[in-house]
Amino acid sequence: MDWADLWPPFGLALRCGPIELHPVRFDELPRLIELIDGGIIADDVPNYPMTSPFGLGGYTVAEQRDSLQYWWSTWANLRPADWVIPMTVLRDGAPVGVQEIAGHDFPTLRSASTGSWLAVAHQGRGTGTLMRQAIAMFAFDHLGARELMSGAFHDNARSLAVSRKVGYRENGRKLLARGTGEVDEEIRVRLLPEWLVRPGHALEVDGLEPLLEFLEIGR
Ligand SMILES: CC(C)(COP(=O)(O)OP(=O)(O)OC[C@H]1O[C@@H](n2cnc3c(N)ncnc32)[C@H](O)[C@@H]1OP(=O)(O)O)[C@@H](O)C(=O)NCCC(=O)NCCS
Repeated sequence: MDWADLWPPFGLALRCGPIELHPVRFDELPRLIELIDGGIIADDVPNYPMTSPFGLGGYTVAEQRDSLQYWWSTWANLRPADWVIPMTVLRDGAPVGVQEIAGHDFPTLRSASTGSWLAVAHQGRGTGTLMRQAIAMFAFDHLGARELMSGAFHDNARSLAVSRKVGYRENGRKLLARGTGEVDEEIRVRLLPEWLVRPGHALEVDGLEPLLEFLEIGR
């Protein structure tokens, strides 16, 4: 048996031009930790941690373990009614960041949300836009999503620029604590299938059918 027989998400692979996305694998975690340790927040962006203590580089051992436990928790807590699937993003075969997709009551609502990061050295060359387009095509064309939600602090210009380029529209604001503890405004964004700005590359998907069955997504 291999991993994909035991756990269908591990059989999933999305390819779009120079990038590939597949659910984060156990043996990739040390490399992802190294990428975070090198920093994911560019100099022109205020401290924007997404989940736990994230992003400015110089990761403590406790923070590294927090990240590991977060990824492991996504495997342990996965249910058809509630899932988070973090995906390793590879560009030209090398890991550069993570694109996550989550669904709560997805078989009924067909609504999903996304979050993503790239190592600073790999930002600013279109990868962030292409991975968001790839996950959106996957969600709409293959999972049957009806909407995708995301958000970024009001001063995270890069993330908001990517959302606009991909076709997301502003969908209100809410208060959210940064990793520093400071509370600030997050801009919520929403994408419908007909608003998606598609890339020049087609999306190839491997391992879809076992995943749909596993997540109880009928079509
Ligand atoms: C957000 C992120 C994934 C985007 O990835 P990326 O590869 O840098 O994005 P791209 O190169 O595809 O596009 C960035 C766009 O932002 C624009 N941009 C960059 N800095 C900007 C600024 N200060 N103001 C406005 N636009 C800006 C770029 O011009 C580019 O648009 P263009 O291609 O039309 O010129 C990446 O920057 C990142 O990981 N940031 C840190 C983590 C994070 O904030 N994640 C999102 C949390 S909501």
